[in-house]
Amino acid sequence: MIQRLHHCVIRPWGRPDAPSLVRHADDREVWRNLRDGFPHPYTPDAAEAWLAFVEQQDPPTHFAIEVDGEAAGGIGFTLGEGAKERTAEIGYWLGRAVWGRGIATEALRALTAHAFAEHPLDRLHACVFAWNPASVRVLEKAGYVREGCLPGGATKDGATTDVFLYGVLRSEPLARRAGDL
Ligand SMILES: CC(C)(COP(=O)(O)OP(=O)(O)OC[C@H]1O[C@@H](n2cnc3c(N)ncnc32)[C@H](O)[C@@H]1OP(=O)(O)O)[C@@H](O)C(=O)NCCC(=O)NCCS
Repeated sequence: MIQRLHHCVIRPWGRPDAPSLVRHADDREVWRNLRDGFPHPYTPDAAEAWLAFVEQQDPPTHFAIEVDGEAAGGIGFTLGEGAKERTAEIGYWLGRAVWGRGIATEALRALTAHAFAEHPLDRLHACVFAWNPASVRVLEKAGYVREGCLPGGATKDGATTDVFLYGVLRSEPLARRAGDL
């Protein structure tokens, strides 16, 4: 899957991405908004482990976000299993150097469409810490709807926060729900 968008390219990860992955990912401000599976510090060994993982994915569900010719972030989804097989959780991050250009929004819209096109999913969801208004805005601009709040749902970096659940349904096309985009 390669998608050329206005501000970025969504494409598979590759082993040569290791240096830029470390450079963009090794940032406490990125880590503190993600689940603990995202390492901190983000070492070259962590990058190698991630690139080995995504290399064996079939079909791939995690992709690099390429900006200005290098991998500056990632976006992907995890397919549910068993009773949750028609759902998936989507997540994304970008290096701080490229924040504020609309990149995450267009990447999320593109990968959401890809996930529904390539997988028999009824819904996609994302969990966002309440202290992360930029990501809340990204989700809402991409057509996701706030479905609930888990009070005290996560503890990260020594602080507890509410967690918002956002979702989008295959049966409700993004275009109808995407507000001002
Ligand atoms: C969240 C993140 C992906 C956003 O990426 P981005 O490319 O900068 O996002 P976009 O430029 O597409 O949109 C950001 C929106 O949030 C808004 N925003 C940014 N900071 C904000 C703040 N403190 N309060 C309110 N809105 C804010 C921007 O103004 C923009 O909205 P607009 O287009 O209406 O002006 C990026 O900051 C990041 O990777 N953070 C760390 C990891 C993370 O949080 N991942 C998501 C986990 S759920």
